[in-house]
Amino acid sequence: MHLDYLEFYISHTCNFNCIGCNRFNNYLFTGHQRWHEHLKAHQQWAEKLTFDRYRILGGEPLLNPDIVDWIRGTKQLWPNTESFISTNASFKRRFDKDLYTALVDTQTVLEIGLHDINRKKEVLELVNNFTSNPVIKRTPLDLWELPNFGANWASSYNRIRDESWPDCNSVEEWNSLSDTIKQECEQVHHFSLDLEADRLQYYNISDDNGLQVVIKLENFFYQPALLKQPERNTFTLHNSDPYKAHEVCASKYCHHMMAGKISKCGPSVLFQEFDRQFEVELSKEDRELMMSYKPLTVDADEETTKNFFDSIRNPIDQCKFCPQTYAPEEINSSINKDKFGKRRVPINTHTKLGEVDG
Ligand SMILES: C[S@@+](CC[C@H](N)C(=O)[O-])C[C@H]1O[C@@H](n2cnc3c(N)ncnc32)[C@H](O)[C@@H]1O
Ligand code: SF4
Ligand code: SF4
Repeated sequence: MHLDYLEFYISHTCNFNCIGCNRFNNYLFTGHQRWHEHLKAHQQWAEKLTFDRYRILGGEPLLNPDIVDWIRGTKQLWPNTESFISTNASFKRRFDKDLYTALVDTQTVLEIGLHDINRKKEVLELVNNFTSNPVIKRTPLDLWELPNFGANWASSYNRIRDESWPDCNSVEEWNSLSDTIKQECEQVHHFSLDLEADRLQYYNISDDNGLQVVIKLENFFYQPALLKQPERNTFTLHNSDPYKAHEVCASKYCHHMMAGKISKCGPSVLFQEFDRQFEVELSKEDRELMMSYKPLTVDADEETTKNFFDSIRNPIDQCKFCPQTYAPEEINSSINKDKFGKRRVPINTHTKLGEVDG
């Protein structure tokens, strides 16, 4: 069996509060999956499943106490497979020699999402100290390489312009505006070539031991499946047309390994996990539907396994719980956790992942 891509989801826990986090880790969702807990299942999967690329993530994977074992262990089981790890790079103590050598030895690319435009300097410094003689490239080198950059520039100008300001249909025309207008654009409307470069360019860093680091801003987020019900301090889920929700979903091919079981995507199993920790209010039918999603176990019979992989790219009934339209919104995340929601169980970072029946 073969997949293009698989995500190893190893922690509910995260120290950030990105509004709309698609795996709900902005709330006080807690628990890690220890490396040895499902090692046997992973070893069995490695005998029959390959993929082109995999990514280790959470939650915040660097908060998982076994992160070095995860990086080394997954590569040992799936050598010659491209590997990535996604982190917010905020747990600075973890950027130590053990992490560095694990990344270098396994050629795992470290991908950093800033989630706040103001973190760029601090994270570049961290990466500079973590790596050995880094070479930093901004990509694209030239903003004009971005599709529609000139047209988008003109329409942004037209949105913020004062009636008294001259017409401006290109970056060149904007450059020739008076310094007073350009200053107002930058200081009041946060609009200038330097600020756009900060927003649109990302960093590709390589060092002399072959480590690769990518730093992206990632500060425009889609709406999540979870909806807050502020008057009751509880959550609920969407009630969408599952086909429409699947059509627009950015996670539909992000197949997911959690607790040794494979699911179509993260949310399909995380709905159940989140509901185990927090009050999610649903009708009886919707609750049954939510709980009826069954990730694939490694010991499933041949027919079940074949059906699962044959249909893994199709919509599932639980897609109705996700939004069917999206309007990306800017986020500026921080470590002040969103404490919204009534918990069903006390906070416990040692919670095991994937213990839900089925
Ligand atoms: C859930 S995070 C986990 C890894 C790590 N904590 C991080 O933020 O990079 C994995 C990826 O999903 C992205 N992501 C999460 N929620 C999103 C949303 N609502 N819209 C767009 N991207 C989202 C993050 O930017 C990140 O690249
Ligand atoms: S850093 Fe943000 S996107 Fe990543 S898991 Fe935490 S809350 Fe979600
Ligand atoms: S349940 Fe469906 S719509 Fe929701 S994330 Fe998974 S694939 Fe996407």
